[in-house]
Amino acid sequence: MRLILYLGKGGVGKTTTAAATAVRAAELGYRTLVVSTDVAHSLADALDAPLGALPTQLTERLWGQEINVLDEVRQHWGQLRTYLSTLLRRRGVDEVAAEELAIIPGMEEVVSLLHIRRQARDGNFDVVIVDAAPTGETVRLLTMPETFQWYAARVMDWEPTTLKAARPLVKALVPAADMFATLEKLTKGVEALRETLLDPEVSSYRLVVNPERMVIKEAQRAATYLALFGYPVDGVVLNRVLPVEAAEGEFMKELARIQQGYRQMVYDTFDPLPIWQSPHYARDLRGVADLSLVGQALFKDVDPVKVQFQGKTQEIVRDGDEYVMRLPLPHVEIGKVAMTKRGDELFIEIGNFRRDMILPTTLAERPARRAVFKNGVLEVRFGAPEALPATEEAPVV
Ligand SMILES: Nc1ncnc2c1ncn2[C@@H]1O[C@H](COP(=O)(O)OP(=O)(O)OP(=O)(O)O)[C@@H](O)[C@H]1O
Ligand SMILES: [Mg+2]
Repeated sequence: MRLILYLGKGGVGKTTTAAATAVRAAELGYRTLVVSTDVAHSLADALDAPLGALPTQLTERLWGQEINVLDEVRQHWGQLRTYLSTLLRRRGVDEVAAEELAIIPGMEEVVSLLHIRRQARDGNFDVVIVDAAPTGETVRLLTMPETFQWYAARVMDWEPTTLKAARPLVKALVPAADMFATLEKLTKGVEALRETLLDPEVSSYRLVVNPERMVIKEAQRAATYLALFGYPVDGVVLNRVLPVEAAEGEFMKELARIQQGYRQMVYDTFDPLPIWQSPHYARDLRGVADLSLVGQALFKDVDPVKVQFQGKTQEIVRDGDEYVMRLPLPHVEIGKVAMTKRGDELFIEIGNFRRDMILPTTLAERPARRAVFKNGVLEVRFGAPEALPATEEAPVV
């Protein structure tokens, strides 16, 4: 089974790309499921077909689904929540506060991912393509299995002492439910889910961008975090490219010219990942026939279900007090490296190549000491965080 997730800023074309990839995959003979986890679903609209909480068959090998995460949480984990809020109330937490606290952070995200995994297995799909919510939320979602496990471990630790007092109450509320077992089952499920999401043979993360500065920057940040957590990114979709040849009139020519610069920025930012381009279509894209054209134009003779890039696009390792960031740049010519760091931004130039990066917090707070480009790999060394200036004020106690 393959799992392909599309990520990107709001409105860049994630849903269109996910649906087009799914249509293409089905044409190539794969049993394909395209599923939306975004609460603001628009997949049914793109496919121009009604979709529900269970997979709906659209063509011979294509199924679509919009999961209702909130319903899922209520259905499967409602009891667990009741149990947790009961425990909290027994500890003297106010009723409404207890209800809120009983919502394990990231529960919804975890539930939707668990659901997708189960569906993929039960439905015997060759490939599941996920149309996710805009990047910020999705990156958070992908780190959730870890946060969740940490949290669940704390809850289980409470159990022996708190349970004794709470048991009669819990029994009355959720008869015959063994919550400890439920939580353990959930934790096991999350662990397996984590393995699936990190397995480069199974999961591929693809970034969707437009030739626009902020869109590219956000995708670069997402790529950094995905690399940090070990999620395998295998390509970038550059969507809404204006055809330079067809641009007529000063306004369109100028827009196309500006886009050229950002197209270069996309190549510099995501090298060595493959980049697939999609033109800006001059009409609405709706339904399987439209999406089939988009998918073919996008991937040409590439099979989008196969893994398109293997290996690391960046690596951050600790070296004593310092950190070393390694960026493989196989297509960059040898040249003098110039580097500037401003807050969480790092600007690198090697000859004609430029990369603007947004650094993860760990590196942003450290000074960039040295950059060397050797054997196609750029290495940037970050020193120990600078000491904050001493203040005269007394510490707040
Ligand atoms: N290459 C393109 N040419 C023309 N229109 C496009 C193109 N790509 C997407 N669109 C249109 O732009 C709109 C937004 O696209 P889409 O819904 O795929 O974006 P999204 O990233 O999923 O948005 P959201 O973040 O809101 O989920 C849709 O109406 C879609 O048909
Ligand atoms: Mg969308």
